[in-house]
Amino acid sequence: MTSDHATTIRELLAFYLEAGIDCALGDEPVDRLCAPDLATPNIATPAPASDGPITAKTGTAPVAATRQPPPRTTTAAARAGIAPPPDIAIESAREAARTAPSLEALRTLLESFDGCALKFTASRLVFADGNPRARLMFVGEAPGRDEDIEGLPFVGRSGQLLNRMIAAIGLKRGDVYIANVIPWRPPGNRTPTPQETQICLPFIRRQIELVNPDVLVTLGNPSTQTLLETREGIMKTRGRWFDYDTGTRAIRAMATFHPAYLLRSPSYKRMAWLDLRAIAKVLEDKALEQPASK
Ligand code: URA
Repeated sequence: MTSDHATTIRELLAFYLEAGIDCALGDEPVDRLCAPDLATPNIATPAPASDGPITAKTGTAPVAATRQPPPRTTTAAARAGIAPPPDIAIESAREAARTAPSLEALRTLLESFDGCALKFTASRLVFADGNPRARLMFVGEAPGRDEDIEGLPFVGRSGQLLNRMIAAIGLKRGDVYIANVIPWRPPGNRTPTPQETQICLPFIRRQIELVNPDVLVTLGNPSTQTLLETREGIMKTRGRWFDYDTGTRAIRAMATFHPAYLLRSPSYKRMAWLDLRAIAKVLEDKALEQPASK
């Protein structure tokens, strides 16, 4: 390799890193510019839907006795390719989440759920952090690189800002409960697809139901639009109270800016502060209404 060539590769890798592409999906590079080899089976084709439900254990549809399972390889891309089709995965997620009697059971179910391809590119599940009996719950979008390494939500730079936001209303991180809509890091921090979000939604909904906080705070647009079922943007939704319906009760919910956004646009911290004050006030009022409810 010439030194020019080595420099080009170094610069290309630096460019990828800056763009958030910091993990390899396979052991071998794929030349996507060359003509497809039609003789080789495409392992990324989802398994065909079967008649039976998929299980939370495998997350894949049971395969009829005569049908050959797709070849198993060790690469993450190949394993991601055998995640079931989204509609089957969503149904399976609903079924699995419904049956979880506790947060621990929900975590165990998620650990063994193979219906979301993000699981196969992430290093680990990022389930939650904080107090499972908290009165205040924050939900972000999806873990990033630091969270994927530590297995905990909001531990990177935006997590440090979230800790300061929590401290600003007189609480500690350990007093609140923190989770994400998506519990696996999307590769390179890309935006989760609508299908990935729909597959993960039953789990975060069950998590909220089990924590049963007095106040739910959605951080940023994706979490707000998904959980509060609105199409309005965060500039319109932030600071407003919503009713989040768990199916058995209504929880007061507020949308506010994502800490990552506040890091990029610090002038909006002033508005986030107003949102935090409103949240603290509702928590205070509720504590007076029903002392020692948690
Ligand atoms: N951003 C999120 O939405 N969640 C995290 O856990 C970290 C960053």
